[in-house]
Amino acid sequence: MLRRESRLPTKFTRRDLAKAAGSAALVLSATGGEAAAQTDRKARGRAPAPRRFTSGFVWGVATASYQIEGAWNVDGKGESIWDRFSHTPGKIANNDTGDVALDHYHRYKEDVQVIKALGAKAYRFSISWPRIFPDGIGTPNAKGLDFYNRLVDELLANGIQPFATLYHWDLPQALQDRWGGWQSRDTAKAFADYAGLIADKLSDRVRHFFTINELLCVVDFGYGAGFMAPGLQLPPAELNQVRHHAVLAHGLAVQAMRAKGRRGIKIGPAENISIGVPVVETPEHIAAAERYTREVNAGYLTVMLEGRYTDAFLAAQGADAPKFTPDDLKIIASPLDFVGINIYLPKYVRAIDTGPGYQELPFSKSHPKMASSWHLIGPEALYWGPRHLQRLWNVKDIYVTENGCGAADEPAEDGIVYDSDRIMYLRNCLTQLQRATSEGVPVRGYFHWSSMDNFEWMSGFGIRFGLVHIDYASLKRTPKLSARFFRETATRNRLV
Ligand code: FCB
Repeated sequence: MLRRESRLPTKFTRRDLAKAAGSAALVLSATGGEAAAQTDRKARGRAPAPRRFTSGFVWGVATASYQIEGAWNVDGKGESIWDRFSHTPGKIANNDTGDVALDHYHRYKEDVQVIKALGAKAYRFSISWPRIFPDGIGTPNAKGLDFYNRLVDELLANGIQPFATLYHWDLPQALQDRWGGWQSRDTAKAFADYAGLIADKLSDRVRHFFTINELLCVVDFGYGAGFMAPGLQLPPAELNQVRHHAVLAHGLAVQAMRAKGRRGIKIGPAENISIGVPVVETPEHIAAAERYTREVNAGYLTVMLEGRYTDAFLAAQGADAPKFTPDDLKIIASPLDFVGINIYLPKYVRAIDTGPGYQELPFSKSHPKMASSWHLIGPEALYWGPRHLQRLWNVKDIYVTENGCGAADEPAEDGIVYDSDRIMYLRNCLTQLQRATSEGVPVRGYFHWSSMDNFEWMSGFGIRFGLVHIDYASLKRTPKLSARFFRETATRNRLV
C-alpha cells in the first residue's frame, strides 16, 4: 500500500475528543474524575443505576508489534515470519503489508498521547522478537531494545502502566528457516532466552508480562490450516508436536523470566480460549459449558493450568498424540500470577445425555456478526469466560487482555467516524463483564482491542478495530465516537 510520508499532527486533546463526539450535549461531561462524579450526582434520578466495576479495576488498550510498528527493516531488525508471509503475493487482502503500518516505531510519542486521551491507564503492547534478536538467537540488537526502553519510559511519564507481551506472532524468520520454527524444541528454548533477556532489561519498570498471545492462532492457523504465517499445513501428529512445543515455550519463558526478572513481576498468558456459553442458564447446561471449556482447550490453557493433557484429549489424538515427558508437563504448568484471556466469540453449548455430555451448537444463519466474517456476536462470553476460569481452576487474578470488534468505519462529512455499532457491541460486552465482577469473579482489568486501527493480519488494513481512526494515506489519527464511550467508561469505572 502506498502512503504519503507527511507527518500530520497526531496528538489530540480532550477538546478534540469532545469535538469528535460531535454534539455539545455529549461534550458536557467530558472531564472525568471528580467532575464526572459531580455530574453523576446531579443527574441521579435521571441516570440508570450505576453499574460499577471493582475499585482499582485496570482500563487499558492493546496493540501488537507487527500490526502497528512498521519500520520492518530499520535499526537492525531481522525479518519475521509475518514480514515474509505478507511479502508473498496473495496471502493478505489487497497484498497489504506491515512494512509501514502506523509507523508507530517513529511516532510512539504521539501514540502515547493518543492512549492517554482515551483515558487508558494501562497499555498492552508486544515486543518484536526479531527486533531484539534479528537471528532469533545470538547477540541482542541494542537499538531494538532501546526502542522498547523509550516506549516504556514514555508510558510511565504519562501515567500509563506498561503490560508487555513477548510473542504476538512475529517469530524471527531465521528460526523458521533453521529449525522449522515451533516444529522444534530448540525454538522453545530460544524463546525462553529471549524472555529472560527482556525480563532482565525491562522488569525494573514493566511489572506485568504476557508470554504468548493466542496459542491457537500460532499453532492451528499458522501450522495447521496455514492461512496465517508461516502458512504450513502439517499432518496431525506434527501439528500436535508444534502445539506441545508452544506450551512448553510458555512454561520455559515463565521460568526464565522469574530467574532473570526483578522480584514481584507478574506473569501470565494471553489466551483465546473457546468459551462455552450455556445456551440456557440452568444448572445442567452450565455444567456442560464448564466441561466443554475444559476439554476443548485441553492442548492449551488446560494443560498450562493442570499440568496434564486430559484423558479425552490423549484418547482423541491416539497415535498422533504429542510426545512429552513428565518434566515437560511440570514446566508447562509453571505457576502463574494471573490468566489473561482474549474474548471475541461465544460457543453456545447445551447438555446432552450421550458422549462427553455436552454439545457445541451451530450458529443460526442469521446470527448477528460484526465486520469480520468470523466475528459472531455473543456478549455473554465476557461473563462466562472469566467465571469458568474461577470455577474450573480457581484462578485468582484474571485480565481480559483483548475484546473489541471490527466495523465498517467510514468518516462522515465532518471527518468523524460515528461507530454506533462498536458502542453497542462494547456496552453489551461490558455489561456482561460487570455482571461477572459484581458476583465476585476476580477480573482485575480490561484491555480494549485496539487503541487504533491497524494491520488486521490476513484482512490487511481492510478491517478496522480501533477506537481511533487511521487515515492510511496520511497516517493521521482521529478519535471515533467510541473513543468517547471508552473514555467515559474508563474514567468513571462504570458502564455508561
Ligand atoms: C486477535 C489478535 C489480535 C487482533 C484481534 C482482532 O485474535 O490477537 O492481534 O488481530 O484478534
